[in-house]
Amino acid sequence: MTRIVVLTGAGISAESGVPTFRDADGLWEGHHVEDVATPEGYERDPDTVLRFYDERRRALVAVAPNPAHDALARLETALGEDLLVVTQNVDDLHERAGSINLVHMHGELYRALCEGCGIRSPWTGDLLGRPPCPVCGERMLRPDVVWFGEMPYELDRIEAAVALCDTFVSIGTSGAVYPAAGYAALASAFGARTIELNLMPSDALVPFDEARAGMASVLVPAWVDEVLGRPRD
Ligand code: APR
Repeated sequence: MTRIVVLTGAGISAESGVPTFRDADGLWEGHHVEDVATPEGYERDPDTVLRFYDERRRALVAVAPNPAHDALARLETALGEDLLVVTQNVDDLHERAGSINLVHMHGELYRALCEGCGIRSPWTGDLLGRPPCPVCGERMLRPDVVWFGEMPYELDRIEAAVALCDTFVSIGTSGAVYPAAGYAALASAFGARTIELNLMPSDALVPFDEARAGMASVLVPAWVDEVLGRPRD
């Protein structure tokens, strides 16, 4: 049974150099979110959207996991299946750090979704040139990123784990996007202890039992040390 569920958001990757969504000017890398993260925006101007995600995918090559990602991988080494990491991030920094028991609920930059056959394939190249789907050959690949108004992945698995966990930890997420934003309240309703590790306390629906403010690269390793019963330096 999953004992700890960790939900991560853009804040855990911020110190790796991956920009967050809602911190600065309300723009995401110079774009309005509704232009590059909605099915309507894609329909209106597919080239802009494909180019945008091609740039995001290319940018991943230059970033690396930070001590927060590393600490969660270390926790999984100790706890095995008792830890589930649910990320809203589309980068691959958790898996590069070594996390295995991991759900990408908002999809992955390193996958493409074929609008012809519906299959999600591993993908590292660009999509702007309309390459053929490796499965069906149709030139209908789009980023495998869950946009606003679309259904996130693996919700049944996530909700079952959240309802059964003893501890729910939210790291680096503003709590602005559902259903992820409702998981702390769900965990709490089922009796879990809830903890937030974030740059600043978020506007949570139900207050966390404990909220620690600061950088993920500092807070997450310290919390993992506590869980593993190691003294702090
Ligand atoms: N350490 C900890 N927290 C941080 C750090 C840091 N170094 N830097 C920023 N944060 C916090 C911010 O204070 C903010 O609360 O991380 C949070 C990031 O929030 P958002 O930018 O809203 O990102 P996220 O919550 O992941 O967004 C959810 O929205 O656009 C969609 O699908 C997209 O998955 C994304 C979803």
